[in-house]
Amino acid sequence: MRINKYIASCGIASRRKSEEIILQGRVNVNGNTVQELSFNIDESKDVVEIDGERIGLAGKQVYIVLNKPEGYITTVKDQFDRPSVLDLVSDIEERVYPIGRLDYETSGLLILTNDGDLTYKLTHPKHEVDKTYMAIVKGIPTSEELSQFEEGLYIEDYKTAPAKIKIVKKDEEKKYSICQIKIHEGRNRQVRKMCRAINHPVLRLRRVAMGEITLKDTEIGNYRHLSKEEVEYLKSIK
Ligand code: URA
Repeated sequence: MRINKYIASCGIASRRKSEEIILQGRVNVNGNTVQELSFNIDESKDVVEIDGERIGLAGKQVYIVLNKPEGYITTVKDQFDRPSVLDLVSDIEERVYPIGRLDYETSGLLILTNDGDLTYKLTHPKHEVDKTYMAIVKGIPTSEELSQFEEGLYIEDYKTAPAKIKIVKKDEEKKYSICQIKIHEGRNRQVRKMCRAINHPVLRLRRVAMGEITLKDTEIGNYRHLSKEEVEYLKSIK
Protein backbone atom coordinates (compact mmCIF):
# COMPACT_ATOMS: atom_id res chain seq x y z
CA MET A 1 0.00 0.00 0.00
CA ARG A 2 1.28 3.51 -0.85
CA ILE A 3 2.77 5.11 2.24
CA ASN A 4 0.39 8.10 2.38
CA LYS A 5 -2.63 5.80 2.04
CA TYR A 6 -1.23 3.58 4.78
CA ILE A 7 -0.85 6.53 7.18
CA ALA A 8 -4.38 7.69 6.36
CA SER A 9 -5.74 4.17 6.91
CA CYS A 10 -4.13 4.16 10.34
CA GLY A 11 -6.29 7.20 11.10
CA ILE A 12 -3.35 9.52 11.66
CA ALA A 13 -4.27 12.16 9.09
CA SER A 14 -5.84 12.64 5.68
CA ARG A 15 -3.84 11.42 2.68
CA ARG A 16 -2.92 15.00 1.81
CA LYS A 17 -1.74 15.75 5.36
CA SER A 18 0.09 12.39 5.42
CA GLU A 19 2.11 13.50 2.42
CA GLU A 20 3.21 16.58 4.34
CA ILE A 21 4.23 14.42 7.30
CA ILE A 22 6.29 12.21 4.95
CA LEU A 23 7.98 15.17 3.26
CA GLN A 24 8.81 16.63 6.68
CA GLY A 25 10.96 13.52 7.26
CA ARG A 26 8.92 12.38 10.25
CA VAL A 27 8.28 8.86 8.98
CA ASN A 28 10.54 5.87 9.61
CA VAL A 29 10.08 2.48 7.99
CA ASN A 30 12.09 -0.35 9.55
CA GLY A 31 14.37 2.25 11.12
CA ASN A 32 15.02 4.32 7.99
CA THR A 33 13.55 7.74 7.24
CA VAL A 34 11.33 7.64 4.17
CA GLN A 35 10.57 10.83 2.28
CA GLU A 36 9.48 9.40 -1.09
CA LEU A 37 5.73 9.63 -1.60
CA SER A 38 5.84 6.63 -3.96
CA PHE A 39 7.17 4.31 -1.23
CA ASN A 40 5.06 1.16 -0.70
CA ILE A 41 4.39 -0.41 2.67
CA ASP A 42 4.09 -4.14 3.17
CA GLU A 43 1.42 -4.18 5.87
CA SER A 44 2.31 -7.71 6.92
CA LYS A 45 5.86 -6.95 8.02
CA ASP A 46 6.97 -3.32 7.83
CA VAL A 47 7.37 -1.38 11.07
CA VAL A 48 6.19 2.19 10.51
CA GLU A 49 6.83 5.00 12.98
CA ILE A 50 5.85 8.67 13.01
CA ASP A 51 7.89 10.93 15.28
CA GLY A 52 9.29 7.76 16.81
CA GLU A 53 5.87 6.32 17.64
CA ARG A 54 4.80 3.06 16.02
CA ILE A 55 1.55 3.17 14.06
CA GLY A 56 -0.66 0.35 12.83
CA LEU A 57 -3.77 -0.17 10.75
CA ALA A 58 -6.84 0.89 12.67
CA GLY A 59 -9.12 -1.94 13.57
CA LYS A 60 -12.41 -0.19 14.13
CA GLN A 61 -13.56 2.93 12.33
CA VAL A 62 -15.07 5.53 14.63
CA TYR A 63 -17.31 8.43 13.61
CA ILE A 64 -18.55 10.86 16.21
CA VAL A 65 -20.11 14.28 16.36
CA LEU A 66 -19.04 16.58 19.19
CA ASN A 67 -20.83 19.65 20.47
CA LYS A 68 -17.74 21.81 20.85
CA PRO A 69 -17.78 24.44 23.58
CA GLU A 70 -16.22 27.86 23.02
CA GLY A 71 -12.64 28.04 24.30
CA TYR A 72 -11.31 24.82 22.76
CA ILE A 73 -8.88 24.43 19.87
CA THR A 74 -9.48 21.81 17.18
CA THR A 75 -5.81 20.93 16.71
CA VAL A 76 -3.86 18.58 18.91
CA LYS A 77 -2.16 21.14 21.19
CA ASP A 78 -0.83 24.63 20.64
CA GLN A 79 1.97 26.67 22.11
CA PHE A 80 -0.42 28.35 24.56
CA ASP A 81 -1.47 24.97 25.97
CA ARG A 82 -5.15 25.79 25.47
CA PRO A 83 -7.67 22.96 25.92
CA SER A 84 -8.20 20.83 22.82
CA VAL A 85 -11.38 19.13 21.61
CA LEU A 86 -9.39 15.90 21.87
CA ASP A 87 -9.55 16.30 25.67
CA LEU A 88 -13.34 15.91 25.34
CA VAL A 89 -13.12 12.57 23.52
CA SER A 90 -10.26 11.07 25.52
CA ASP A 91 -12.39 8.09 26.56
CA ILE A 92 -12.36 6.87 22.94
CA GLU A 93 -9.58 4.33 22.47
CA GLU A 94 -8.97 5.03 18.80
CA ARG A 95 -7.12 8.19 17.79
CA VAL A 96 -9.74 10.36 16.16
CA TYR A 97 -9.21 13.67 14.38
CA PRO A 98 -11.58 16.50 13.47
CA ILE A 99 -12.89 16.80 9.93
CA GLY A 100 -12.06 20.43 9.22
CA ARG A 101 -11.84 22.92 12.04
CA LEU A 102 -13.70 25.42 14.14
CA ASP A 103 -12.16 28.53 15.65
CA TYR A 104 -11.23 28.59 19.33
CA GLU A 105 -14.21 30.91 20.00
CA THR A 106 -16.71 29.00 17.83
CA SER A 107 -18.97 26.36 19.34
CA GLY A 108 -21.11 23.60 17.87
CA LEU A 109 -20.91 20.68 15.53
CA LEU A 110 -17.58 19.02 14.85
CA ILE A 111 -17.26 15.56 13.32
CA LEU A 112 -14.28 13.48 14.41
CA THR A 113 -13.11 10.18 12.92
CA ASN A 114 -10.13 7.91 12.37
CA ASP A 115 -11.22 7.41 8.74
CA GLY A 116 -8.53 9.40 6.95
CA ASP A 117 -10.11 8.88 3.54
CA LEU A 118 -13.40 10.41 4.64
CA THR A 119 -11.53 13.34 6.20
CA TYR A 120 -9.62 13.84 2.98
CA LYS A 121 -12.78 13.74 0.89
CA LEU A 122 -14.84 16.07 3.05
CA THR A 123 -12.12 18.68 3.41
CA HIS A 124 -11.17 18.73 -0.26
CA PRO A 125 -12.41 21.98 -1.86
CA LYS A 126 -14.11 19.96 -4.62
CA HIS A 127 -16.43 18.17 -2.18
CA GLU A 128 -16.96 20.80 0.48
CA VAL A 129 -20.41 20.21 1.96
CA ASP A 130 -22.78 22.94 3.09
CA LYS A 131 -22.11 24.03 6.64
CA THR A 132 -24.84 25.78 8.59
CA TYR A 133 -24.08 28.32 11.30
CA MET A 134 -26.08 30.44 13.69
CA ALA A 135 -24.37 33.78 14.21
CA ILE A 136 -25.17 36.64 16.53
CA VAL A 137 -24.00 39.69 14.63
CA LYS A 138 -23.70 43.34 15.59
CA GLY A 139 -26.48 45.53 14.23
CA ILE A 140 -29.18 44.61 11.77
CA PRO A 141 -28.08 43.88 8.19
CA THR A 142 -30.05 45.63 5.47
CA SER A 143 -31.41 43.70 2.50
CA GLU A 144 -28.62 45.19 0.40
CA GLU A 145 -25.98 43.89 2.79
CA LEU A 146 -27.65 40.48 2.81
CA SER A 147 -27.55 40.36 -1.01
CA GLN A 148 -23.88 41.32 -0.99
CA PHE A 149 -23.26 38.38 1.34
CA GLU A 150 -25.22 36.05 -0.93
CA GLU A 151 -23.54 37.15 -4.14
CA GLY A 152 -20.01 36.68 -2.79
CA LEU A 153 -17.68 39.17 -1.17
CA TYR A 154 -14.08 40.17 -1.51
CA ILE A 155 -12.22 39.18 1.61
CA GLU A 156 -8.51 39.65 1.53
CA ASP A 157 -7.43 38.50 -1.93
CA TYR A 158 -10.34 36.30 -3.00
CA LYS A 159 -14.04 36.43 -3.71
CA THR A 160 -16.20 34.09 -1.68
CA ALA A 161 -18.59 31.72 -3.40
CA PRO A 162 -22.29 32.57 -3.11
CA ALA A 163 -23.53 31.87 0.40
CA LYS A 164 -26.89 32.04 2.14
CA ILE A 165 -27.93 34.28 5.01
CA LYS A 166 -31.28 34.76 6.69
CA ILE A 167 -32.15 36.90 9.70
CA VAL A 168 -34.08 34.81 12.19
CA LYS A 169 -34.31 37.36 14.99
CA LYS A 170 -33.75 41.10 15.27
CA ASP A 171 -33.23 42.95 18.53
CA GLU A 172 -33.67 46.59 17.52
CA GLU A 173 -33.12 47.78 21.08
CA LYS A 174 -29.95 45.88 21.85
CA LYS A 175 -28.85 46.28 18.26
CA TYR A 176 -27.96 42.77 17.29
CA SER A 177 -29.43 40.08 15.05
CA ILE A 178 -29.35 36.32 14.94
CA CYS A 179 -28.64 35.01 11.45
CA GLN A 180 -28.65 31.58 9.89
CA ILE A 181 -25.70 31.31 7.51
CA LYS A 182 -24.83 28.54 5.04
CA ILE A 183 -21.48 28.31 3.30
CA HIS A 184 -19.81 25.45 1.50
CA GLU A 185 -16.27 26.76 1.45
CA GLY A 186 -14.08 26.30 4.47
CA ARG A 187 -11.54 29.06 4.51
CA ASN A 188 -9.99 30.26 7.72
CA ARG A 189 -12.45 32.36 9.79
CA GLN A 190 -14.60 32.72 6.71
CA VAL A 191 -17.95 33.44 8.36
CA ARG A 192 -16.38 36.03 10.64
CA LYS A 193 -14.60 37.71 7.73
CA MET A 194 -17.75 37.74 5.57
CA CYS A 195 -19.83 39.29 8.35
CA ARG A 196 -17.16 41.88 8.99
CA ALA A 197 -17.09 42.67 5.28
CA ILE A 198 -20.76 43.70 5.42
CA ASN A 199 -20.08 45.71 8.61
CA HIS A 200 -21.88 43.34 10.96
CA PRO A 201 -19.12 41.62 12.93
CA VAL A 202 -19.86 38.29 14.58
CA LEU A 203 -20.40 38.45 18.32
CA ARG A 204 -20.92 34.68 18.74
CA LEU A 205 -20.80 31.79 16.31
CA ARG A 206 -22.13 28.24 16.48
CA ARG A 207 -22.14 25.55 13.80
CA VAL A 208 -25.39 23.60 13.74
CA ALA A 209 -25.08 21.30 10.71
CA MET A 210 -22.68 19.82 8.22
CA GLY A 211 -24.70 18.67 5.22
CA GLU A 212 -27.55 16.65 6.77
CA ILE A 213 -25.66 15.87 9.96
CA THR A 214 -26.91 17.73 13.02
CA LEU A 215 -26.13 17.57 16.73
CA LYS A 216 -29.59 16.22 17.61
CA ASP A 217 -29.75 16.48 21.41
CA THR A 218 -26.02 16.26 22.13
CA GLU A 219 -25.25 18.60 25.02
CA ILE A 220 -22.42 21.11 24.84
CA GLY A 221 -19.10 19.36 25.62
CA ASN A 222 -20.57 15.92 24.83
CA TYR A 223 -20.45 13.73 21.74
CA ARG A 224 -22.54 11.02 20.09
CA HIS A 225 -21.64 8.26 17.66
CA LEU A 226 -23.05 8.73 14.16
CA SER A 227 -25.59 6.14 13.03
CA LYS A 228 -24.80 3.73 10.20
CA GLU A 229 -27.09 5.76 7.93
CA GLU A 230 -25.30 8.99 8.81
CA VAL A 231 -21.89 7.42 8.05
CA GLU A 232 -23.22 6.07 4.74
CA TYR A 233 -24.58 9.51 3.91
CA LEU A 234 -21.17 11.14 4.54
CA LYS A 235 -19.41 8.49 2.44
CA SER A 236 -21.91 8.96 -0.37
CA ILE A 237 -21.25 12.70 -0.74
CA LYS A 238 -19.86 13.21 -4.24
N1 URA B 1 -16.15 30.38 9.95
C1 URA B 1 -15.56 31.07 10.95
O1 URA B 1 -15.34 32.26 10.84
N2 URA B 1 -15.22 30.40 12.06
C2 URA B 1 -15.44 29.07 12.24
O2 URA B 1 -15.10 28.52 13.28
C3 URA B 1 -16.07 28.39 11.19
C4 URA B 1 -16.41 29.07 10.06
